[in-house]
Amino acid sequence: MKRMIYIVTVIACCYSIAVAQDEGSGGAELDKFKPGEVWLDTSGRAIQAHGGGIILRDDVYYWYGEDRTSRQKTTVSCYSSKDLYNWKFEGTVFKQEDLASDIRTNTFIERPKVIYNAKTGKYVLWMHLEQGGYHFARAGVAISDKPMGPFEFVSHTRPVKYEFDFPNPDPDRQKELGGTFRDMNLFVDDDGKAYAIYASEHNATLYIVRLNEEYTAPEQPLAENKTWARAFVGKYREAPAPFKYKDKYYLISSGCTGWTPNAADFAVAENIFGPWQSKGNPCAGDDSEQTFRSQSTCVLSVPGKPDSFIYMGDRWNPRQLPDSRYIWLPFKFDDNGGIEIKWLDEWDLNYFSK
Ligand code: DGJ
Repeated sequence: MKRMIYIVTVIACCYSIAVAQDEGSGGAELDKFKPGEVWLDTSGRAIQAHGGGIILRDDVYYWYGEDRTSRQKTTVSCYSSKDLYNWKFEGTVFKQEDLASDIRTNTFIERPKVIYNAKTGKYVLWMHLEQGGYHFARAGVAISDKPMGPFEFVSHTRPVKYEFDFPNPDPDRQKELGGTFRDMNLFVDDDGKAYAIYASEHNATLYIVRLNEEYTAPEQPLAENKTWARAFVGKYREAPAPFKYKDKYYLISSGCTGWTPNAADFAVAENIFGPWQSKGNPCAGDDSEQTFRSQSTCVLSVPGKPDSFIYMGDRWNPRQLPDSRYIWLPFKFDDNGGIEIKWLDEWDLNYFSK
């Protein structure tokens, strides 16, 4: 009986995704966020932008993320919006075939992020490049003149080589190639300097690395605690989501349990290179120990509302990755510099006017 219920549920679930994927007829205008529900784009297809991030350029938001409909051949999709509720699919801006020829056939893309470089006028895409077994663990970089791409591949690297207590055996080949590059994010500071923040040392430690003027590689020469730093050493934090408020740096991250959700951590630092002080789990209420069954991907500052932010997370569905859902929840800083993220079945941007 249990098996029967399971089969019926899976069929119903696949059917609803198929309907959402195929509709293509233009959905009704949205004016609310409904965390965990299927989110359709303006053509009526389910949004595919997992593990993603958002930038704002000339009053238009661009949301980049993993399109998981092609399974192991993830591509980078781009959506645009003026109001954060209604998203127009702008196309696939980077795909496996755009990678260097030596890795094109067997490499997939996770957690792509794009930032704009005001000095060069280029859009710069960084991504976690991976292969079966999860030992490839490299950074991929690509650039474009336009937010909608196409992005041209620049390089794939392990950005930092550092002598730590290498595991033995080390299938990630870190002594030879440098520390692993997995879950990642980018952050552009008020002075225009950009940083890559990523899970390294086989996910045990986060690396924070200042980028060169072009945002395409680490600033050289590398100098520990000056141009890059190790943070949360040995703490196995991943899914880093950095943001800034009143001259302090903040980071929401997840634990390291594959696709399974776990408790988030909220940390603060006076300097982006640390020391970072953990303030514990920012979530409250039912399911808060599982971050409402999600994993952080990004924190979005709400324009014109300096104390207001949106937590963006992925509710991964490992059996059906394209049907992973988006968990967006609002939060504000309290007078003591604390935050609390609570579950809401639905909400809109008026939340921040209260
Ligand atoms: C957790 C990461 O955050 C995801 O991006 C993905 O790499 C999964 N692990 C794979 O298990």
